[in-house]
Amino acid sequence: MSHAAPTDGDALASIQACVDTIRQRAPKAKPRVAIILGSGLGGFADALTGATAIPYAELPGFPRSSVAGHAGRLVLGAVGGVEVVAMQGRVHFYEGYTAAQVGFPARVLCALKPKALVLTNAAGGINLGFKVGDLMAITDHLNLSGMNPLIGHNDERLGPRFPDMSHAWTPALLATLRECAKAESVPLREGVYAQLSGPAYETPAEIRMLRTLGADAVGMSTVPEVLVASHMGIPVAGISCITNLAAGIGTSPLSHAEVSETADQVKHVFARLLSRFLPAIGR
Ligand code: HPA
Repeated sequence: MSHAAPTDGDALASIQACVDTIRQRAPKAKPRVAIILGSGLGGFADALTGATAIPYAELPGFPRSSVAGHAGRLVLGAVGGVEVVAMQGRVHFYEGYTAAQVGFPARVLCALKPKALVLTNAAGGINLGFKVGDLMAITDHLNLSGMNPLIGHNDERLGPRFPDMSHAWTPALLATLRECAKAESVPLREGVYAQLSGPAYETPAEIRMLRTLGADAVGMSTVPEVLVASHMGIPVAGISCITNLAAGIGTSPLSHAEVSETADQVKHVFARLLSRFLPAIGR
């Protein structure tokens, strides 16, 4: 019997190959903060100054998104004088990627050794106090996806076998996010994000279950990335854009069009919050 665990080769070498490409394309870049921009929120990266954009296709092994509203580029630039690396678009389990593949881009960002990784997404509102268009700081999560990018052989050079998730959503970053929202007069909700695999939206019964379990918002992403970042010791903050009321709460049918439309309406407020928050945590 082989003692090799069934994984997809040497993850560290694949990560390093992407880091090398990034360093070749943007030799002077030293990003202090990394951010993953969710559905309809990718436009923020277009506002970065002195930007270098690298299509995912140029990054060896980088999975490519098939979802509308996910551009598929890595953008290195600055906001408020602080260097940032932004992912415009991400991949999801429901596209057929393995857990390791879904976690891979976040591994590359973490290998650039930013002070923090900021995760953003579009999510359905479960909390009955939430409205469409609200922004929610993620305080914690429920991994109900049935998957985990840390399954398989553990490379101790990346992180420990059993990472502690007690403070995965880093309290100090959350405190700064609250302060920045206040300073910008951006109303900020807070809550627990539940990830399911998708791609179907949830049933009303599933939403009632999630509410009973303590979830405030639901989506199909983000948890693989916080798991990878915790594994690699990178602090994480998260913001959900409540693009719709979750199934069974409102009367309108759920659709990706509504998700994209709401994200588009919120993008200016979202950009204002990030333009204060990213420099605040990167300095
Ligand atoms: N459910 C799951 N994922 C989502 C939703 C939702 O209601 N809205 C945006 N992403």
